[in-house]
Amino acid sequence: MSTASLLELAKVFAITSRDLVKIAAAFQKDMESGLACQHRSLKMLPSYLTKPGGEETGLFVALDFGGTNIRAQVVELAGRRWEIKQQRVQLLKDAAAMYDYTSTTTKAEALFDFIAAAIAAVVEPGRDYFLGHTFSFPCQQQSFNQAMLLSWTKEISTTGVEGEDVNQLLTAALLRRGLDKVTPCVILNDTVGTLMAGAYLDARASIGTICGTGHNTCYYDPSAYGAPMIINIESGNFNGVPCTRYDSQLDAASDKPGSQLLEKMVAGRYLGEIVRLAANDAIGLTLPPLSFTAERLAAVLSGAFDGILTELELTKKQQLAEISRLVVERSARLAAATYAGVLRHIDSEVRREHIIAVDGSLFEKMPGYSAAMNRALGEVLGSKSHQVKVSLTKDGSGAGAAIAAAAILKKQRCRP
Ligand code: GLC
Repeated sequence: MSTASLLELAKVFAITSRDLVKIAAAFQKDMESGLACQHRSLKMLPSYLTKPGGEETGLFVALDFGGTNIRAQVVELAGRRWEIKQQRVQLLKDAAAMYDYTSTTTKAEALFDFIAAAIAAVVEPGRDYFLGHTFSFPCQQQSFNQAMLLSWTKEISTTGVEGEDVNQLLTAALLRRGLDKVTPCVILNDTVGTLMAGAYLDARASIGTICGTGHNTCYYDPSAYGAPMIINIESGNFNGVPCTRYDSQLDAASDKPGSQLLEKMVAGRYLGEIVRLAANDAIGLTLPPLSFTAERLAAVLSGAFDGILTELELTKKQQLAEISRLVVERSARLAAATYAGVLRHIDSEVRREHIIAVDGSLFEKMPGYSAAMNRALGEVLGSKSHQVKVSLTKDGSGAGAAIAAAAILKKQRCRP
């Protein structure tokens, strides 16, 4: 490949400082139309949860259903800190063990029985527990313990869950398993869990976000829905960023073409595929579909080439690493632009200090990711950037479920 085509790719994937400002403004506008229930790409879903006070305590079960695996935990909250006492992590699909709970051939009952089994593995038989459930998909909520799945995202398509109340599906499975002492009392998005956990540690947290297999953001709004509440933006569905030809190819081959366009440019589930499409096209590689995972992408960025990549000549390796860097940098910059849009919505002059609580393997582990995000925030926020700190809130979505359960119980006990 000539240097010119690498240069061309650099242009194709570039998000300039001006683009950042434009995307932030478009995102803010779309949030505002979403809140006004106008035609929008952002769903702005109410959570019926506010930020915790930090003093919540107790022992809770946290269920984190993310898309790649499920995590059942017993979490002890001790006031501004938590400890995971028990944990069971299970992949949702495992080719070696010959099961897949994510495809259309699996029914809701089977999926939720699998989840109940993981919960059974961490609880003490006969003991009472309240359970917080982090369910990382777009749900319409009427209250904090009722959530109807609007549509699966992240290429999951288990039958019989869309349109159903997820909390009821879980409650029924717990009863089938004999776990009648485990009471699901709250259901929340993983971004909301991350913000709950971030705010439990530091009250300045106002945004929660996931940069992992999927991508999404929530924020604390003091008044939008008539009461202070955390709002799940479902930012992955934002459609205000122009697609490159590689994005369009990826979208066309996805489960739901036309949806989750931002997520398909930002999230770990898709980044490797974009690099693969660009590398096959521009530097003549012949990598098969889905062979270039986020883990491989991270390895290439750290200079490690495994499997068929070992065979590549040095120049191709360098070019593949460069394409990987461009795609990862674009992801971090796009996410940063949307955070700037949220900040401008909640605090137009960014007068206050804000913490953006972030969880997810992409942010935590992808080489160069957090640095690229901070650079972009610096560019888009200019002199206000010192007011904003992006902070890794590890396991926030799991701990956040326990914190949400504790906060709800505290509120109910305080009710006259
Ligand atoms: C997808 C889901 C969203 C979730 C995100 C991160 O975008 O639609 O609800 O928060 O993934 O897991």
